[in-house]
Amino acid sequence: MRVKWILGGLTFFLAISLCISHAEPGKRWGDIERGENLFITKCGFCHHTDSKDTKVGPGLKGVFKKKVLPVSKRPVTRENIRNQIRNPFANMPAVPDLSKQDIRDITEYLRVL
Ligand code: HEC
Repeated sequence: MRVKWILGGLTFFLAISLCISHAEPGKRWGDIERGENLFITKCGFCHHTDSKDTKVGPGLKGVFKKKVLPVSKRPVTRENIRNQIRNPFANMPAVPDLSKQDIRDITEYLRVL
């Protein structure tokens, strides 16, 4: 009985927060905190963020402080980060289930590493 209430409450809260996040996409171009959470679930098992050492893919610490991306040597731009996620260079699998805003948020997060 109690579990049902808790589940109901959680679903309600989730629905509300989804509505709010859609109605107000945020003032910044991307949301760093949201990007970090997405990164942890979608990218973190293959990429370090606190070093440049290779995990499965290259560590991404300071990636936006460089001129070129670590593997492809393409210029570090938002555009190329988006390409890497949608249509990756070499061995990284595409991460298809991310919205435009998700990618913006992840990119915003990568900028502060
Ligand atoms: C299953 C492992 C895996 C996942 C998940 C993954 N990557 Fe990668 N990523 C790689 C590998 C491997 C490479 C290097 C490609 C190579 O060496 O062939 C790479 C390369 C990159 C590069 C450098 C590209 C370049 O042009 O040099 C960036 C930036 C990157 N990944 C970002 C991301 C982001 C952002 C996500 C999450 C949305 C992500 N990756 C998810 C494995 C992964």
